[in-house]
Amino acid sequence: MPKRDFLQIPDLTAAEIVQLIDLAAEIKAGRYQKRPLAGKTLAMVFAKSSTRTRVSFEVGVHHLGGHGLFLSGRDLQLGRGEPIKDTARVLSRYTDGIMIRTFAHSDVEELARHATIPVINGLTDRLHPCQVLSDVFTVREMLGGWEGKKVAWVGDGNNMANSWLNAASVLGFELRLACPEGYEPEREIFERAKRCADVSMHEDPEEAVQGANVVNTDVWASMGQEGEEDARRLAFKGYTVDAALMKRADPGAIFLHCLPAHRGEEVADEVFEGPQSRVFDQAENRLHVQKALLAKLMGREEG
Ligand code: CP
Ligand code: NVA
Repeated sequence: MPKRDFLQIPDLTAAEIVQLIDLAAEIKAGRYQKRPLAGKTLAMVFAKSSTRTRVSFEVGVHHLGGHGLFLSGRDLQLGRGEPIKDTARVLSRYTDGIMIRTFAHSDVEELARHATIPVINGLTDRLHPCQVLSDVFTVREMLGGWEGKKVAWVGDGNNMANSWLNAASVLGFELRLACPEGYEPEREIFERAKRCADVSMHEDPEEAVQGANVVNTDVWASMGQEGEEDARRLAFKGYTVDAALMKRADPGAIFLHCLPAHRGEEVADEVFEGPQSRVFDQAENRLHVQKALLAKLMGREEG
């Protein structure tokens, strides 16, 4: 069977996403005791910082009977200029899968092209598919499903926003984004999603959040954009998810944030710590969903 990569949400069909989420629910409920990664190693390459992705992958691999090998981009020869295609072929000789977090999305595509083992995107400047795959699980868990639900995105049109667009395009829920001018998601990703689902851009966060079932945001300056922090703070003024904005949403709406969060910037403390916030369930679910993904791509649950 050819290897399967997970570089973006559309690498899976809607039916496969449902199947994965069903398996994640089994895992979360403690009903899955198999060790499909026994004797296998996942190389985990990090060129950027991480708490959740690193720990949930390493612990997840361990639970499934395998070994997670943490490889800092700074320590690998990759960090000294060894070509990605060489790194891909070498890691393919030693390990059974690669999870990579880096800057350019094209680097992950190149790695996947040259690796003979599955490659998983643990975040690039363009996409964060593992997070959003897990977030749709959280939406189903909290709200019973995504069918007919309105999801609002407030803030930067970043890797998370792009991945939510990809999720809407595969799963078909309504997605409304409010981003300041110049900080919209990638046009091509937006246009593709628009052909498949009810996705719309709004300048006014109140308009995007009106009647929403899920309100989502993320940091205003992502990893690699540290030099733009001051300019972004100015550009994103008025885009804080606070209690007044949450009042516009459906009364049963949940608040999601992939974390880490900057309280007082993209989210007010009252919302982050408030009764509608599900951010720590959301963080926990990374573990369950990634275990399902690893079992599918690297284990004996493939197919
Ligand atoms: N949400 C997320 O990916 O967190 P980390 O950057 O801590 O991995
Ligand atoms: N958009 C953020 C997500 C962090 C998990 C970043 O790329 O830094």
